[in-house]
Amino acid sequence: MSKSQIFKFSATIGAAALALSIGGTAVASDKAWGIDQGIWGIGKGITEEAIKPWDISIFFDGTNLPEGSGDMARGEEIYHAQCAMCHGDFGEGARGYPRLLGDSIERFVEAAKAGEDTLGIRGLNNLWGHAPTLLDMIYRQMPMFAPQSLSWDDAYAVTCYVLYLTDIVTDWDFVCSQDNLAEIKMPGRDHYYTDPRPDHEMNRCMKDCHDGNLEVVGAAVTGVAVGQVERRDRN
Ligand code: HEC
Repeated sequence: MSKSQIFKFSATIGAAALALSIGGTAVASDKAWGIDQGIWGIGKGITEEAIKPWDISIFFDGTNLPEGSGDMARGEEIYHAQCAMCHGDFGEGARGYPRLLGDSIERFVEAAKAGEDTLGIRGLNNLWGHAPTLLDMIYRQMPMFAPQSLSWDDAYAVTCYVLYLTDIVTDWDFVCSQDNLAEIKMPGRDHYYTDPRPDHEMNRCMKDCHDGNLEVVGAAVTGVAVGQVERRDRN
């Protein structure tokens, strides 16, 4: 062993020993103090109460939809007071802010396949795949000047109204709620698929393995799958 090899070797042993001793302490401390007292006596354990406001992700299939409901009339009221100044009275977009009513799904798919820039023609009626994620996005992010200021009932109401504005729900009497949001069929739904990653099995390669660095060569719009990344070996 050269001097530097010896140094590396002993540094590795040292790090492993340190990791072991920290690990050992962690187990003993958690048992001794309980989760509410934090870990290793530092800080404070997080409570369910504190996690609650962060635990708001709603999944495409309706998992985690919160209790609530809202009708078109309430949605329209909210939309005109808090949304129309940016998204337009009819969802056509205002002052450079995004349209909610995009071009038809057929036109959108055609443009995406032809490699055209689809940013200016996208909307809820073409790119958006699922109504529950629309509620999630609206509650989480909108109105842009005051995110998360809507109650869940109001978020359901305004989600319902933008679905009406974009011709996805055509019945004015429809009331959106946790019981029916996942059943609304968005025009773009069939263009979405579940990403199957991880797509490799993490088997250790012992010989003739890949020896180049992976390089991201660009993001492409293929069909309507936005942001797909191609990879290519560098050598
Ligand atoms: C101050 C301007 C502003 C206001 C007011 C506003 N929005 Fe937005 N909205 C935006 C911007 C900017 C984006 C794009 C944000 C992004 O892509 O992350 C956006 C995106 C959206 C989208 C996603 C559109 C898409 O196709 O990706 C929806 C839906 C939406 N807003 C709904 C609402 C609703 C409902 C309200 C009212 C409660 C509202 N917005 C109020 C500026 C605004």
